[in-house]
Amino acid sequence: MPDVKFKIFRYDPETDEAPRFQEYTVPCEKGTTVLSALYYIQDYLDGSLAFRSSCRAGVCGSCAMHINGRYRLACETQVLHLRPPVKIRPLSNMPVLKDLIVDMTEFWRKYRYIQPFLQPGAVVEGQKELPQTQDEREKLGNTIDCILCGACSASCTMTFTDSGYLGPAALLKAWRFVADTRDKAYETRLDLVDGLDGVWRCHTIFNCQRACPKDLDPTSAIAHLKREILKNRVFGKKYKT
Ligand code: SF4
Ligand code: FES
Repeated sequence: MPDVKFKIFRYDPETDEAPRFQEYTVPCEKGTTVLSALYYIQDYLDGSLAFRSSCRAGVCGSCAMHINGRYRLACETQVLHLRPPVKIRPLSNMPVLKDLIVDMTEFWRKYRYIQPFLQPGAVVEGQKELPQTQDEREKLGNTIDCILCGACSASCTMTFTDSGYLGPAALLKAWRFVADTRDKAYETRLDLVDGLDGVWRCHTIFNCQRACPKDLDPTSAIAHLKREILKNRVFGKKYKT
């Protein structure tokens, strides 16, 4: 079982003057994930190390962190696939609460702002379902697979320079509902994202697309929203997606 060196970002804003990287050595074997290694450190080497996780299966998004140069889910990343020392730091663009845990309050505020729920309009009496054709479902693509890990927003240069920018995760979700034929809040949704802190702040740098551990494409979603806003300004709902 090889010993693997880790360099992990440590910082407690309440007690530390500055962040530092601390080294640990962890016995790893085929199948050991970065998350398992963090648990090993916490259980056997240093109980003060703080990080988030929940599902351990790439579903909840809580273990996103910067590992050896890119954002990844710790629970889905095999240690033996990485070049040691394995360097880990928390998501950027969010204040550090402790070590690898960041404060996502702003991330969630922006997410709530875009109204991330289906708005079907007036319900027809007796109607129990809102059916969708195969083609209509296909239009949504994999946009519904976002696990809200925050990696895209952490990698976004525009979020770094403008903390008010809604950011790729919220905008991807906005597009997911604009593109949903069952949703009837089309104009409200476009209004919410049509501003300097909305889609127009995006400079199409593609960091978010590269960072997403689920291979989603927030950059394209933002481009679709821009097009939809312009179409709506010129033609109204006539050519609505
Ligand atoms: S789009 Fe990808 S990177 Fe961004 S929050 Fe969703 S799953 Fe995470
Ligand atoms: S622990 Fe849930 S995605 Fe990693």
